[in-house]
Amino acid sequence: MRKPAEDLLNTNNLLKVFSTSLNLALKLMSYLQPNNNCIFVKKLLRNFMKEPISGFSKLTKEEKIHWLTKTYLNDDPKAVEVLKQYWNKDEKLQQLHDEFTENTISNYYLPFGIAPNFLINNELFAIPMAIEESSVIAAASKAAKFWGSRGGFKTEVIDTVKVGQVHFIYKGSEEKLELFFNELEPKLRKAAAPITKNMEQRGGGIKSIELRERTTEVENYYQLHCHFETVDSMGANFINSCLEKFAEVLENEAAIWEDFNDEERNIEIVMSILSNYVPECIVRAEVSCSLEDLSDDANFSGEHFAEKFLRAIKIAETEPFRAVTHNKGIMNGIDAVVLATGNDFRAIEAGVHAYAAKDGQYSSLTHAKVEDGIFKFWIEVPLALGTVGGLTSLHPLVKLAMEMLGQPNARKLMEIVAVAGLAQNFAAVKSLITTGIQKGHMKMHLMNILNQHNATLEEKEKLIEYYKTNVVSHSDVAVQLEKLRR
Ligand code: MEV
Repeated sequence: MRKPAEDLLNTNNLLKVFSTSLNLALKLMSYLQPNNNCIFVKKLLRNFMKEPISGFSKLTKEEKIHWLTKTYLNDDPKAVEVLKQYWNKDEKLQQLHDEFTENTISNYYLPFGIAPNFLINNELFAIPMAIEESSVIAAASKAAKFWGSRGGFKTEVIDTVKVGQVHFIYKGSEEKLELFFNELEPKLRKAAAPITKNMEQRGGGIKSIELRERTTEVENYYQLHCHFETVDSMGANFINSCLEKFAEVLENEAAIWEDFNDEERNIEIVMSILSNYVPECIVRAEVSCSLEDLSDDANFSGEHFAEKFLRAIKIAETEPFRAVTHNKGIMNGIDAVVLATGNDFRAIEAGVHAYAAKDGQYSSLTHAKVEDGIFKFWIEVPLALGTVGGLTSLHPLVKLAMEMLGQPNARKLMEIVAVAGLAQNFAAVKSLITTGIQKGHMKMHLMNILNQHNATLEEKEKLIEYYKTNVVSHSDVAVQLEKLRR
């Protein structure tokens, strides 16, 4: 048993005694010098007083904010004000947002904008985009306008198959495992039937279940590698539920399989989870026009533009440093629509970048060529998207986004998102090989700079006019504002 003296010397207790003394000292100091903030001492004290909190998720929102500001934000009432400023006045709507996730204390706004004039397969769309980067929507709109007068975007969904895996450990004869698997497969499907029933009615379900041997990578490691069709849902819950059922059946059936020895019967499930790598859930979007029609700039012939453009694409195809930035520009368009339509942009990002490296080196997602005087520019990209379930039927802005897109099914949404990526990339590469990116970018960024300087409406109007013919930079905006304020 520990003695009381040992307890007293315990580091935590010493710290507590020290922090209580400091607290008392601080209180005393503030009585003696009420205007002295003692920031340093406060910070020191705060660090000593920090302790892990348990049951945080069970606190009310107000209690969570109180704890947070006390522990990390110097008990600053302004911090509380900022957090509450973003609460929605409509309590029901706020509650909906609170309940999307755990420990919500406020909302985080992103601009929700529209890029109009997208002609896709002869149908006109205004594409909703949720994004903070100032030049993205302007660039998308420009590309939409450019290609709208050149036949628009053509799209095609190549396939919509998704993947999930049960990873497991089996120690024994591979031949016996294969024989076992042949008998197991129909049992897996039967056991999952209550889960797949509704999906099958909608035209989806389990497409295939394969046994894969991966023992050279990890000792005794095998997989059930499964393909699914999830129609209009992103399908994560459906796939994961099927996989967990497969894992259960695999484990139970192995345990009673007569041809296995004791060690073979003891299959160990490592994990059951969908894959966000979906190289068979692919959509293609394309634009094309004659070389004569390609240029909208008197200083550039269509041929000259195409030559420069193709070279830029070749560089992105072969040079990973460029490919990453090139694809980042594509994701500016893709993520913005994915977010606006309530889809999982992390899943999309992970899958897209894995696809960009599918041939062993990270490469461009877009490609271009000139054939018989025709310029062609296209993207092929994996997009596992949903238009039912998840946020799509809950978030009022997502519902509105879906409505303005004409309630697309998942395939249509794949096409629209791919177009947004292609358009964004066209706009970026066009700027890069002609004027350079900064001219347009800084113009769009001007408002942010003006806001950083707390510019008034009048100052904004004057400087927006001024920068129509001058180059925007942070330092120049400061100089111009100072001149105006003199
Ligand atoms: C910036 O967000 C995106 C670009 O860097 C893309 C590109 O370089 O192609 C402009």
